[in-house]
Amino acid sequence: MRGVNVPSTSPVVLRDRQPRDLPVLTRWLTDPRAEWRRWDAPYTPAATTTETMRAYAAYLTQNGPDADERVIDVGGECVGMVNRSEEEPAGGGWWDLGILIYNPAYWGAGVGTQALALWVADTFEWTNAHVVTVSTWGGNERMIRAARRLGLRECARVREAYVVEGQRFDSVRLDLLRREWEAR
Ligand SMILES: CC(C)(COP(=O)(O)OP(=O)(O)OC[C@H]1O[C@@H](n2cnc3c(N)ncnc32)[C@H](O)[C@@H]1OP(=O)(O)O)[C@@H](O)C(=O)NCCC(=O)NCCS
Repeated sequence: MRGVNVPSTSPVVLRDRQPRDLPVLTRWLTDPRAEWRRWDAPYTPAATTTETMRAYAAYLTQNGPDADERVIDVGGECVGMVNRSEEEPAGGGWWDLGILIYNPAYWGAGVGTQALALWVADTFEWTNAHVVTVSTWGGNERMIRAARRLGLRECARVREAYVVEGQRFDSVRLDLLRREWEAR
């Protein structure tokens, strides 16, 4: 099931955020009706997400790029971001990875899988990660399939943990060890 909106020749790269990305990022982040909000933690109350995203957009405007957060660039256009955070304890070697492609026109065309592969590689290259995880919910099949394609495996599932549009979904976590990635 691959999308048709993105030419397969468009290179997907991760790069530092530039000032020219801010209008695009701010628009997508602060739009309360953006489709991505139905997929990225949709169990969080909408008002909370709106507030968090406004604060995050303001943070991006005031702060330069960060090694733990990169822009996903397709053919020169900023289409989303990846990020990572170290799970406690600091230095323990467990990093959780996040990915968000704002524009649904780019979904299902392989961009997420490519960007996540680059992000996994970057994380193993530039951090002490022993293991990386992706945390999502059972209704986000695109996220789960993209992660699985790269070799991540389900390592935790809390059944019926979240309510999304009146229905209960599992919390799902997938993991990948450094040695598994290097053996690919
Ligand atoms: C999740 C996300 C990063 C995945 O990126 P993507 O570019 O859409 O994913 P890809 O096209 O690389 O891979 C998607 C996989 O799901 C499948 N897929 C595509 N559309 C699908 C659909 N509507 N339903 C189920 N599976 C679908 C694809 O076939 C592919 O699986 P395969 O490699 O086994 O064939 C992206 O969709 C996104 O940013 N969504 C909104 C925000 C979000 O959900 N972020 C993650 C929060 S944890």
